[in-house]
Amino acid sequence: MQKNKSIVLGITGGIAAYKAAELVRLLVKNNIDVQVVMTEAACQFITPVTLQALSGKPVYTGMWDASVPNGMPHIELSRAADAILIAPASADFIAKLVHGRADDLLSTLCLARDCPLLIAPAMNKQMWENPATQRNIVLLKTDAVAVLGPASGDQACGETGLGRMLEAEELLYLINAHLQPKLLKGKKILITAGATLEMIDPVRAVTNISSGKMGYAIAQAAFEMGADVTLVSGATALVPPMGIHTISATSADAMYQTVMQHVCGQDIFIGVAAVADYSPIAMQAHKIKKSESSLTLELKRNKDILAEVASLPNAPFCVGFAAETENLLTYAEVKRNAKKLPLIVANLVSDAMRSEENTVTLLDKNGAHPLPRTSKIEVARLLLKHVNNLLK
Ligand code: C5P
Repeated sequence: MQKNKSIVLGITGGIAAYKAAELVRLLVKNNIDVQVVMTEAACQFITPVTLQALSGKPVYTGMWDASVPNGMPHIELSRAADAILIAPASADFIAKLVHGRADDLLSTLCLARDCPLLIAPAMNKQMWENPATQRNIVLLKTDAVAVLGPASGDQACGETGLGRMLEAEELLYLINAHLQPKLLKGKKILITAGATLEMIDPVRAVTNISSGKMGYAIAQAAFEMGADVTLVSGATALVPPMGIHTISATSADAMYQTVMQHVCGQDIFIGVAAVADYSPIAMQAHKIKKSESSLTLELKRNKDILAEVASLPNAPFCVGFAAETENLLTYAEVKRNAKKLPLIVANLVSDAMRSEENTVTLLDKNGAHPLPRTSKIEVARLLLKHVNNLLK
């Protein structure tokens, strides 16, 4: 488990302030320490008591708070933080940041910071489109402030357009990405994920119970580490992740074709998808009628995508997954050798499939490296750190 990260969450005056409550809850759930600082206007929309209860820490609202040990909250509060996030960031607060104003605790804290600043703008679409705001956003980006969103959609004022604050889940995803060390910056990584779906007739298919969660978690972790990620996704119920080029390819053959089209120039290939080993010889044009007492389905062997990629002349660093029900490490090592992989991730079907967590062992030329049972995103981060070490 990585060391806890900590952020200062600044809340400014806008109706989207209500979303900050959910954001604090998600951050805390994800082991990120949150110190909330609110402007006076923010307190008109949501009370400090709510945020104190959710963050488990006193919320600061004023410059003259005597409870800060050295009496200098504008210095003290940001020194322990890995980043400051302003969500929502109002048009007025953005303008203040541009000019380096320091007339309340939050703006002073931002001016005195020695850590990255991220803002999630939220305002009426006309305010967002106003040349003054657009100029301010350009200037903030020049000052290396990360601007998250805004999104487009229905607004509290009844209008529709750009200016909605990103949802709490989306902000959590982007903050997590921001807080990770950029170990894979400059690296291109291709990942397959999810189950394949082999059509028998227009309504029936051969598939498996893979959820795609492990592959999507690896894609997210790679994005967090600064990689250029392409995700070839089989059948899953998951939403394509932000910042990741996601291509849908549901059959084993479509997945093979898509991988081969994108593999050139990749540094790393990770085959997480549960690819069907066999698929029907041909899809029936019409629904098969139940007339006979039994039905024989003739299947043909599919290409092994991972083995094909690993045998390319300029093959990327290839990582496979072995999901087994017994003899885990033996079977996994046999697969690693058969497919000529520098690394394979061994997991038991019962530990991995459809679960939010996973227990894996990494097998490489140096032997077996068991990882603790933890969330799939944490497994993904540990796996990619291991890959990065092997690449070095
Ligand atoms: O199915 P098997 O246990 O051989 O899968 C091991 C690894 O090979 C997995 O990483 C899987 O994504 C990959 N694979 C593949 N194409 C196949 C079968 C498996 O890429 N047709």
